[in-house]
Amino acid sequence: MLTASLPIRHVSEFSAEVRESLTKPGQRELPSKYLYDEVGSALFEAICVLPEYGLTRADARLLEKYSREIVGRLPSPIQVAELGSGSGKKTRWILEALSRRQRTYYYPIEISPSALAACAKELGQIDLVSVVGHEQPYLEGLRTVAEGRGERDHLLVLFLGSTIGNFDRDAGEEFLSEMREILQPGDALLLGTDLEKSIELQLLAYDDPAGVTAAFNLNLLARINRELGADFDLSSFRHQARWNRVERRIEMHLGSMCRQTVHVPAASLRFMLDEDETIWTESSHKYQAEEIPEMAERTGFRCDGQWIDREWPFAQNLLIAG
Ligand code: AVI
Repeated sequence: MLTASLPIRHVSEFSAEVRESLTKPGQRELPSKYLYDEVGSALFEAICVLPEYGLTRADARLLEKYSREIVGRLPSPIQVAELGSGSGKKTRWILEALSRRQRTYYYPIEISPSALAACAKELGQIDLVSVVGHEQPYLEGLRTVAEGRGERDHLLVLFLGSTIGNFDRDAGEEFLSEMREILQPGDALLLGTDLEKSIELQLLAYDDPAGVTAAFNLNLLARINRELGADFDLSSFRHQARWNRVERRIEMHLGSMCRQTVHVPAASLRFMLDEDETIWTESSHKYQAEEIPEMAERTGFRCDGQWIDREWPFAQNLLIAG
């Protein structure tokens, strides 16, 4: 049975991508963007407050502490676009610092209408800040915002929470280059990047003892069951977090605990999984602080400032379009 809540185009896109990634020769995969349905997004919010997952708190701490300094380095007047609105909580620090010196338009860009609504509720009350949501994919939304700006306006793009780490390294750089093409010289990008730390801490962050991350990962199979009529038996899969030393990333997998056959009717797919075979669902790349300025140079930016959290190695990087 197909879900009633998804428009037909999305169902066919979803089923085509599920089919393609699950039938990849070698390692089976599923695209990580599908982790975030309503249940997955709620589980991700829970991950963000887990004691083992320090990333979100470090991101927020840096913004709370350094927003005034960061804003002090930006040209004026400047409007703010954010890729992925999240809950909007962290963004408050930047908007409040900016609103001390100018009226600010804030454009969250996000494909989830409920996330946009939550963000407007959270941030719409700040004096001298107007929230205008764009329900579009990131670069498409950024293009709309950039084309609609006033003649004198600069843009600050926020790409927080180390979401860049969920791209493969090459794809991440390609994404930054494409972003740069949309921007004007002098525009800014505040990029959050999670830094390498002990393997033990990194593994715990992605395999917490309460099993929240495991539920987040397994929900992807549950979603495929719900929306594409598949028959994944969740009790025969186990969440795994692995550190890939060569690529310097955490990989999330779902390991099959037995030899089994799975059907995904909406994707016209039937396949067999061996015992211990895994489906790779997400990568989270980690960085060294020094590689961000180099990455900035390669993609048409210059790194103007970097702020690092001591408690949980994480960097906010202020990149200026050259
Ligand atoms: C959204 N993203 C930056 C998170 C991360 O850390 O890669 C997603 C996540 N996956 C498991 N835990 C958190």
